[in-house]
Amino acid sequence: MKMIDGKLHRYAYLLVYGCQMNQSDAERMMGQLRTIGYERTESMEEADLILINTCCVRETAEDRVYGKIGEIKRLKRENPELIFGITGCMAQKEGDALIKRAPHIDFVLGTNKVHELTHVVQEIQAEHGHVVDVQLGETELPDDVPVARAGSLSAWVPIMYGCNNFCTYCIVPYVRGRERSRLPEDIVHEVEEAVKNGYEEVTLLGQNVNSYGKDHKLADFADLLKMVDKVPGIRRVRFMTSHPKDLSDKVIAAIRDGEHLCEHIHLPVQYGSNRILKAMNRVYTVESYRDLVRRIRAAIPDVSLTTDLIVGFPGETDEDFQQMLDFLREIRYDSAYTFIYSKRSGTPAATMENQVDESVKKERLNALMAVQNEISLAINEKLLGKTLEIMVEGPSKNEPSVWMGRTRTNKIVLFAHAGEKPGDFIDVRITHPQTWVLKGERVS
Ligand code: SAH
Ligand code: SF4
Ligand code: F3S
Repeated sequence: MKMIDGKLHRYAYLLVYGCQMNQSDAERMMGQLRTIGYERTESMEEADLILINTCCVRETAEDRVYGKIGEIKRLKRENPELIFGITGCMAQKEGDALIKRAPHIDFVLGTNKVHELTHVVQEIQAEHGHVVDVQLGETELPDDVPVARAGSLSAWVPIMYGCNNFCTYCIVPYVRGRERSRLPEDIVHEVEEAVKNGYEEVTLLGQNVNSYGKDHKLADFADLLKMVDKVPGIRRVRFMTSHPKDLSDKVIAAIRDGEHLCEHIHLPVQYGSNRILKAMNRVYTVESYRDLVRRIRAAIPDVSLTTDLIVGFPGETDEDFQQMLDFLREIRYDSAYTFIYSKRSGTPAATMENQVDESVKKERLNALMAVQNEISLAINEKLLGKTLEIMVEGPSKNEPSVWMGRTRTNKIVLFAHAGEKPGDFIDVRITHPQTWVLKGERVS
């Protein structure tokens, strides 16, 4: 709390872990906090309210949160007025166990309760009791929740909540509930508002965007893409994540024909052998996935494909792993997020036999990354000398005179800054392609 020019300022510090959905939820939390007088701060020391929006997809994510919770104990001792809340997926999973473990937590709010944040905070301001609310109802986030977007260039727009897929390793369906699609007009309205506020790029979010609208049947994902593509002023539309089992030819055609729909599909395969895919309950096979990729590339030749991969799923053999490496070499993703399987209690895979040794998992992860890095580099090298349009984002992390931007295919391009502003669209010729980034120079 600070008195500036006779006015009392309250500050909220938000720490966000996990996926884009969590980022998007956090923006809606901050939006609400603003309505009751909080401003965002980047300093934990200065904060009157600290929120950790948590992830529990892997054990490492949870460990990090427990570490932070410990750190905040000191701040709470120094400032008893400080309000400290845990939200997000781990809040949903652990509920009041979190407060039992760390009594300096004031409230625990589940994933379906984002819109109750102001109410809970005010209750604690008044009474200083504990509040736990993690009921996982079937209601969706009301559409009138205010949003305080974290970035100024690209806007996250959730199109659906929850997941129905129950991949056997994954905790998300348990902490996010069943799929609920937002109404198409609400989504289009949010995109229009974002454009009015200066955003030229949006990313449509869902655990499985391809099953959008299967509940309300008012529009499917392809219809929605076409509607968003037509919003006046929009320059780029991104979307994630696509589950391979639901990516229809209609969606492929929509991306092919859409003017602003970016040629990038994040299409997690997770594994490259049928035996493991089956045990994961991913529903598709190596063969059907291969055919899907063939159809995508035939329709959209310049498409970039990215994926998520898990090593060390229970029962994984050397032979499975070799098949996965072969599959990677065959499909040739532009890039991949690689994960070591992490046991999540309550999921079917956690109790499967033949859990893989940690040391074997690490070895396989390294081998996997080596193969993928080679492929990423080879794909990027083909871009040498090509001119690509990028949206300028801002200075790169290491060197302020070197700026970064992104291609439609979501590749990062570094270039020497010469007066460009964030949000500018410029053409850049690629001069030095690398594994993770492309270096280039502006062409006028
Ligand atoms: N809905 C998205 C992904 C959500 S979680 C999808 O289906 O693709 C993001 C990624 O985390 C997953 O794609 C998966 O690769 C990984 N993941 C999920 N559970 C995991 C676990 N128990 N251990 C390791 N990685 C996991
Ligand atoms: Fe998890 Fe599978 Fe749902 Fe993705 S589709 S969130 S991996 S259960
Ligand atoms: Fe993590 Fe929840 Fe996203 S578990 S990955 S923050 S949906």
